[in-house]
Amino acid sequence: GSMAASGDDDMADLVISSLPLETRCPPYHLRQHGGFWFSEPFLPAVAAARARFEARPSDVLLASFPKSGTTWLKALAIATLHRADHPPRSLDHPLRRRNPHDCVETRDSGDDVLAALPSPRLLATHLPYTHVPKSVTTEGAGCKIVYVCRDPKDALVSKWLFTKKRLAFAAVDDSPPKPYTIDEMFELFCDGRCTCGPQWHHVLGYWEASRRQPEKVLFLRYEEMLRDPVGNVRKLAEFMGCAFSVEEEAAGVAEEVVELCSMDTLKNMEVNKNGTQNHVRNEAFFRKGVAGDWSNHMTPEMAARLDKIVEDALRGSGFAF
Ligand code: A3P
Repeated sequence: GSMAASGDDDMADLVISSLPLETRCPPYHLRQHGGFWFSEPFLPAVAAARARFEARPSDVLLASFPKSGTTWLKALAIATLHRADHPPRSLDHPLRRRNPHDCVETRDSGDDVLAALPSPRLLATHLPYTHVPKSVTTEGAGCKIVYVCRDPKDALVSKWLFTKKRLAFAAVDDSPPKPYTIDEMFELFCDGRCTCGPQWHHVLGYWEASRRQPEKVLFLRYEEMLRDPVGNVRKLAEFMGCAFSVEEEAAGVAEEVVELCSMDTLKNMEVNKNGTQNHVRNEAFFRKGVAGDWSNHMTPEMAARLDKIVEDALRGSGFAF
């Protein structure tokens, strides 16, 4: 049986105000549903998408816990899937004009926009496996999912630094953001209280799905992608049904995709230096991009405590970070 928290099959009758509330995680209030915490303002749309969104077998859904390599995965998937129309070295490549987040559709795109998109569609979500639209995970139908997993300590630190930037960006002159310490976030994170948390249950849900249906769910690790980016892009291409041909391999196309999507290349693009998303500057999505940066922000005691919590929660599942 699954150890991951099970989501409610039906969110249709959701009464948000009756769900457990957490107010200490900026920038939004959180509500707990089906074992996970969600940003309160987005819950109605989550429920609507769960009931209404119609997945196509050719869809590729990029899934992740926040701050786990979403931006990178989006860039790699775009560059890989659309390389016939947009060779990675072309000067007018979409990734040279737009932030990766603006090249992939999300729930916010709206039903009509999503329905009008040509196949194969590239979509993205932070939702746990239990809460994605029902049509996505229907056995025998559904669509492809690519999940990226990251060490919870690095995801935590990345999220904390990102949230501080976000709060600073949103703040107006006369109300500076209230200080937000890593200790505050750490306590809540350890208790699973963060958007889409607990992080380890989020990961476990997709990992179990990838074990049940490896042809439907590809499970990638951020740390592995750093270690062997080209090998992971090959895996991604194969999984999406567009493996690199012998000619492409000989021409180094997989390497070109990796180069286009590298931290250095993306970070230095004009749109990523100066553009903005709704709530944050694009530059905030590109920080260090390494494994183990948590040690510069967390004490060894904090790390040991979180590791223990995660280990205990995952014991017997077959999965380990
Ligand atoms: P750090 O804050 O540890 O540097 P997300 O995209 O899910 O929001 O995750 C953000 C994390 O991915 C950040 O981690 C960010 O620096 C890193 N990242 C962004 N673009 C990247 C890229 N092209 N290659 C590797 N890491 C990248």
